[in-house]
Amino acid sequence: MESKQIGKQAFDELGRIENLAELEKFRIKYLGRKGKLTVVLRSLKDLPISQRKKVGQETNRLKVELIKTIKKKNKEIENWKLKIGNSKIDITAPGVKLPQGHLHPITQVLLQVEEVFQSMGFKVVEGPDIETEYYNFDALNIPDEHPARDVWDTFWLKTKPERLLLRTHTSPMQAKYMEKNNPPLRIIVPGRVFRYEATDASHSHTFYQIEGLMVDKDISVANFKAVIEEFFKRLFKQDIKIRLRPGYFPFTEPSFEVDLKGGKFKNWLEIMGAGIVHPNVFKAAGYNPANWQGFAFGMGLDRIVMMKYGIDDIRLFYKGDLRFLNQF
Ligand code: PHE
Repeated sequence: MESKQIGKQAFDELGRIENLAELEKFRIKYLGRKGKLTVVLRSLKDLPISQRKKVGQETNRLKVELIKTIKKKNKEIENWKLKIGNSKIDITAPGVKLPQGHLHPITQVLLQVEEVFQSMGFKVVEGPDIETEYYNFDALNIPDEHPARDVWDTFWLKTKPERLLLRTHTSPMQAKYMEKNNPPLRIIVPGRVFRYEATDASHSHTFYQIEGLMVDKDISVANFKAVIEEFFKRLFKQDIKIRLRPGYFPFTEPSFEVDLKGGKFKNWLEIMGAGIVHPNVFKAAGYNPANWQGFAFGMGLDRIVMMKYGIDDIRLFYKGDLRFLNQF
């Protein structure tokens, strides 16, 4: 065989070698006493003078290169052995699990709330955190200087040329939605709201509300009660009773505070504000109050999550403390 061919074959084989025993076999095959290259070199003397020099040089160059490459390969194999030990890699061994995040408890319960309301024919809509004074107050029958404005301690953002604020409740979406959509309608509006007040275990300057609005012909307090009772039954999967106490909101008349009891909730718990939509709210949105009735409610989502899991401090939701969050 010509040394060129031998060289090609040798380097092909070398690429497939994986351990020192194979490498030694390989060395003997080509460079041993009866090795392929050795044989060529030994038979140089039988070649005609004209070829001897060329073949000799070629073969010797190949031999030097092969020796160098074998040394390199040897080092490579030694290094692998250091890295992985003598053991084979067990590709069937289970991998290392990377830590995986999950949804915040507020988000988890929000998704459940949305699902229950959707199953009852309500559409989920959202509004912006930053509102105009008009939608947060005026459109809801709370004109400037109305004493009820003090109920919602407001973060004002700017006062000129237009008054902007962080919405103090999700009710602005009642007005906004009705301006753009005709009755009958059923919506819920989940979202973050903001109040300029001191923080303690049951108050946070930022929290979540779920607004509800149902408008149709002949909607009454009985419809409201039925819908809300059904909602809580489905959400908590327990037999829940609700009770209405008189309350006051400028945008509903009559207005109620709503309490809940049942299942693991042994005592009445205040859960939301609600009422029958005030005619002025319909008027501001362009509806004829003679033709339509509706109920509206606003519940605290944080409160519901706290009840569900027995959490006693609302601030835990906003701290990002993994010792708390990892429990959900
Ligand atoms: N927006 C009221 C609040 O934040 C709650 C509410 C909503 C009351 C809808 C009645 C109707 O306190």
